[in-house]
Amino acid sequence: MSSEELKKTIQDMVVPGKGILAADESTGTAGKRLASINAENTEEMRRQYRNLILTANGMEEHVCGVILFEETLSQKSDSGVLFPELLSSKGIVPGIKVDKGLVDLNDNGEKFTQGLDGLGERLEGYKKLGARFTKWRSVFSVSDTLPSPELVKRNASDLAKYAKICHEHGFVPIVEPEVLIDGSHSIERSYEVTENVLQEVFAALESENVALEHCILKPSMVISGKEASNRADVETVAKETIRCLRTTVPATLPSINFLSGGQTSEESTAHLNKMHVLDSNMPWYVSFSYGRALQEHALKAWAGKQENLEAAQEAFMKRAKLNGLATLGKYSEEME
Ligand code: 13P
Repeated sequence: MSSEELKKTIQDMVVPGKGILAADESTGTAGKRLASINAENTEEMRRQYRNLILTANGMEEHVCGVILFEETLSQKSDSGVLFPELLSSKGIVPGIKVDKGLVDLNDNGEKFTQGLDGLGERLEGYKKLGARFTKWRSVFSVSDTLPSPELVKRNASDLAKYAKICHEHGFVPIVEPEVLIDGSHSIERSYEVTENVLQEVFAALESENVALEHCILKPSMVISGKEASNRADVETVAKETIRCLRTTVPATLPSINFLSGGQTSEESTAHLNKMHVLDSNMPWYVSFSYGRALQEHALKAWAGKQENLEAAQEAFMKRAKLNGLATLGKYSEEME
């Protein structure tokens, strides 16, 4: 592995005022997004959707990296440029989701993430297509008894193995343990689970000797379950999230980029902004790696119709800009 290569990728992806766009929906998930606007899940519709987002003018002012799905690496924009090339030409780092989704682990209905088999070989292929960083997502459902210690250990261990393999092939790994927002759990339960998961993830990374300075963490926020009564307010989410991260994440890690995980677009921006307002001295760069929170308004505005392209790109750029401002603590609700 070349640590210079990894260092350069981190430099290009850790930029104040900017964050990462997650545009790596698998074919199935892309289908769900397209169904929400009554569009068909064909390869061409998926390409058009990617085209709309990735050709938005000025995106590079707020976005420094984009996570792509395998299919998108070899697709082209309307003007015939391969998407990874298009991004690189704007100074945006192309990345690739490398996990292979979820499989059953136990009788609790818990699922772990697969994809380690043949990963090194796949990475060499992705490199030829221009990708420089990777993403692997593990998920943890929350209840009074879940996640099980078995799932936490398994996912933590596989995240660390994944990160190690990525470094060996010159890719910066995004390590994504997502504590799901689904359910009616309290913010206190969210804190407890997130703390435990992050502790296990960093213990596993340490035991695999993974160089944290070349990794990016993509966590969920410490937040009330979506169906909880009396959901915690913006300030509490920001405060509890920072407290949890300060307890668990070593300062050698350069960047923490949150997922939005089913929060509304506006909530995701407000929470990120509040963290910067409350704590201007966090030891890592703290930013976004949002999927839905950057794209959902654009998707609605587009509705699968070419004539709505401009309005859809405007809607996307608005979220990109506001989230960029949130990484500086300069967003306010009046900007909505
Ligand atoms: P959301 O921001 O929509 O949660 O997507 C982020 C992501 O990459 C999930 O893996």
